[in-house]
Amino acid sequence: MCDSSLSKRFSTLDKALISTQDFWRIEPFHLSINERLPWYTHAGLCAFLSDLQVEDIEQLKGDTPALVKHLSPFIPNLESLWHECELPSLSLTSEHDTQHLSVGIPGRKWQQINAMGEAAIRKSCSNQVWLEWCAGKGYLGQWLAQQSQRPVISFEWQEALCVAGQALADKHGLPMTFKQGDALSPDCVSVFKPHQHAVALHACGDLHAHLIEHSCQQHLSAVTLSPCCYHLIQQQHYQPLSMEGKQSGLILSKNDLRIPLQETVTGGERVKRHRELEMSYRLGLDSLLQETSNQNGYIPIPSIKKSQLSQGFASFCQWAKQHKNLEIALDDLDFWYHKGQARFIQMERLSLVQQVFRRPLEMWLVCDKALRLEQAGYDVSVSTFCHRDITPRNILIQATLD
Ligand SMILES: C[S@@+](CC[C@H](N)C(=O)[O-])C[C@H]1O[C@@H](n2cnc3c(N)ncnc32)[C@H](O)[C@@H]1O
Repeated sequence: MCDSSLSKRFSTLDKALISTQDFWRIEPFHLSINERLPWYTHAGLCAFLSDLQVEDIEQLKGDTPALVKHLSPFIPNLESLWHECELPSLSLTSEHDTQHLSVGIPGRKWQQINAMGEAAIRKSCSNQVWLEWCAGKGYLGQWLAQQSQRPVISFEWQEALCVAGQALADKHGLPMTFKQGDALSPDCVSVFKPHQHAVALHACGDLHAHLIEHSCQQHLSAVTLSPCCYHLIQQQHYQPLSMEGKQSGLILSKNDLRIPLQETVTGGERVKRHRELEMSYRLGLDSLLQETSNQNGYIPIPSIKKSQLSQGFASFCQWAKQHKNLEIALDDLDFWYHKGQARFIQMERLSLVQQVFRRPLEMWLVCDKALRLEQAGYDVSVSTFCHRDITPRNILIQATLD
């Protein structure tokens, strides 16, 4: 992706996201059934959504391309937004003699490590050493050390992960050194050296932003990074990194930054059933509270063990009542449970509109980061490093200095 194509992409996304804010800046969980929707003037969209049966909603939730086709007649610029989300996928071989390093690593995670490791090695040269940022136990670092036989510094906050990771690296005889430290503290600057290739697999919000800033300032020779958890930031709003991002009128709150992450790889029927039950219970109790007490606004109820859900709605309400000292009578619970179920279906229906904006919002964030690197003189590419079934956080930013 050349200089102008990245900024053109950003500019198209920026304009289209600003002009469609009414469609995606919603919180479907908190919209009550009779509330006027932000897109209430779009009669066609309202009719399309209300005609959807439960099976249709279910099917469209799992098929975003079909959903985009259905919603395009109602939402201006939706197709051009999606056009800007197309990325080349790296064709990686996944033939590596690294299987012995995979012990204890879940299958999907291991596939991500293989793909990211290979992508990083392809963009590296023999005089580079590796800096693994927010390394966890350093699984990616192990992979790179084993395949390249070049030293790795693995930087990680949690002491226990550093100790466990160092023990693993030593057991496999790999040239790795863990450094414990805080990626958000100015002291971590000492870990950066110009001949490094920094790698970060799924570094959260501020953590990947700090890596990009340090890399630009210390002129690291290369960066390979897959961002995630955009909402994990210290400030209330997203702080753009690039010139274009800083000039944009798009101000993203933490809630907005959570939107791209709502795309998950589903955990099958059981996980789906648990979610439906839990949401229906929460919405049913919320309706009961709003309509039978002088309660105003949503009362957050703490998270609950999945096993507790099987004890039913009455038990859930009792538990919440005790936990939050709620002064309510738990009468007519069947009525409130059915109300919760109806609100759950409505929530799923409204979420379909937000669903088509998840990837475009993520692309806007990724382009902002990629542009920052480009503006610091890097040759930057943006691609996908694995299929979205392995992880929906599959975007890779790679930057190299000549
Ligand atoms: C999402 S995990 C990714 C770990 C690893 N890269 C992987 O993909 O398995 C984020 C890691 O960042 C570490 N971390 C969180 N805050 C940090 C900080 N302030 N400084 C350094 N590391 C931090 C966490 O302890 C965790 O290991």
